[in-house]
Amino acid sequence: MTINCDYRDLDALRAALAELKLDLPLNEDLSILATPLAVGSRGAANRLAVQPMEGCDGTEDGRPGELTVRRYRRFAAGGAGLIWFEATAVREDGRANARQLLLTQETLDSFRALVDGIRRSAREAGCPDPLVILQATHSGRYSRPGGVAAPRIAYHHPIFEAEKRLPDAAVMSDGELDDLLPFYGEATRLAAEAGFDGIDIKACHRYLISELLSAFERPGRYGGSFENRTRFLCEAIRLANAAAPADFLVSSRINLYDGYPWPCGWGVAPEPAGSVDPDLTEPNRLIRELYDDFGVRLLNLTIGNPYSNPHVNRPFSGGPYDPPEHPLAGIRRHVSCAQALRRAVPEMRTVLSGISWLRGFAPQLAAGVVADGIVDFAGFGRLALANPSFAREILNEGRIDRRRVCITCSRCSQLMRAGSVAGCPIHDREVYGPIYRRDVLESERDIAGMVSND
Ligand SMILES: Cc1cc2nc3c(=O)[nH]c(=O)nc-3n(C[C@H](O)[C@H](O)[C@H](O)COP(=O)(O)O)c2cc1C
Repeated sequence: MTINCDYRDLDALRAALAELKLDLPLNEDLSILATPLAVGSRGAANRLAVQPMEGCDGTEDGRPGELTVRRYRRFAAGGAGLIWFEATAVREDGRANARQLLLTQETLDSFRALVDGIRRSAREAGCPDPLVILQATHSGRYSRPGGVAAPRIAYHHPIFEAEKRLPDAAVMSDGELDDLLPFYGEATRLAAEAGFDGIDIKACHRYLISELLSAFERPGRYGGSFENRTRFLCEAIRLANAAAPADFLVSSRINLYDGYPWPCGWGVAPEPAGSVDPDLTEPNRLIRELYDDFGVRLLNLTIGNPYSNPHVNRPFSGGPYDPPEHPLAGIRRHVSCAQALRRAVPEMRTVLSGISWLRGFAPQLAAGVVADGIVDFAGFGRLALANPSFAREILNEGRIDRRRVCITCSRCSQLMRAGSVAGCPIHDREVYGPIYRRDVLESERDIAGMVSND
């Protein structure tokens, strides 16, 4: 059943929340979103963030392509104080598709030009210079270098491998993990040279480091105990710190909760068996250590997995299945997890994810969570693809144009899954409409044709 966010006004949304026995902080006064904030030794001009959104539109050798440059120029001219740059591979074998960005000494000049372009576009549009954080990743289970699936996993997973168990050789050995670590240090050095303000050692959404966090039954130095499961992330951050200039931000986009039962889920209650209730004891402990022992001052908080439980990761109206819960419950889970972390590590600066389903009401939730001290930044993902100027509209007009909001139809994700470039075919129709027709609709028709010809 499709559940749209089509409430008449804020009171109608509040009534729906009350009926669902859910509580979300909604602030009509959006002015708090315009307040600047120090982050480490850097600062953000406002509390609005563009979330990392991979466009799968780089060149084959991993440089930003034309559409990549276009996307970031539009984000920069949109006025958000924080632009969290999309997943960028640290090594060729960890690319999620043939066109995922890859930061190396060879591609560095193109990244430098892109970051310069971001800052120039912001200036030309009269917007503040944004904080720009590069997301550094190894795609692990989802690696498809050259467009060919070549999964590298932390351990075999009963849900992801229910239909077909991957070969044991797909499991990265301790030695292979050791060999990968220095690439995070190198990516940090390169990101600083390219002009980014910081680096995100990506630990979310079941990509390699995220999967290691729940490797309860993996033997060896990277599995089993809390220390072992968090070893790779901590070591990557230590190497990033060592390679980073003094005022550079070393950060992470991190899952607080996976949504799969123990022993294959992180941030999940171990009991009773089969439970998928959040239990943030371990994520909170890790993040306390990241703050105290590793100097991490900023985290982008997220939950779930975009491939197998997208209703947890990005509440939607139209998607691959009927969600088992109201999208507002999904948004509430994001907020609750962020709130639990805030109680445990109040000093950490944080970004909230997963709010685009709220359409025109997302700014009120953004203001509510910042005013209540639940997070420091509200991140906009799909909504930013639909309307890259969302921040300027919120800050200047106290609202976003309701005709240009994301309708969470999942067409951007469908494009990605089809191996195409990702964007918004609804609101960025001139560019992505024809691509969607060609790469999704026509290939679906082709498949239907093949099936009916059988
Ligand atoms: C097309 C697309 C690309 C994405 N790329 C990334 C990415 O590169 N890195 C990442 O951490 N999350 C990525 N995400 C997830 C978003 O950052 C965000 O967490 C998600 O869309 C939920 O937030 P929203 O409700 O504001 O859209 C992507 C999502 C979509 C739809």
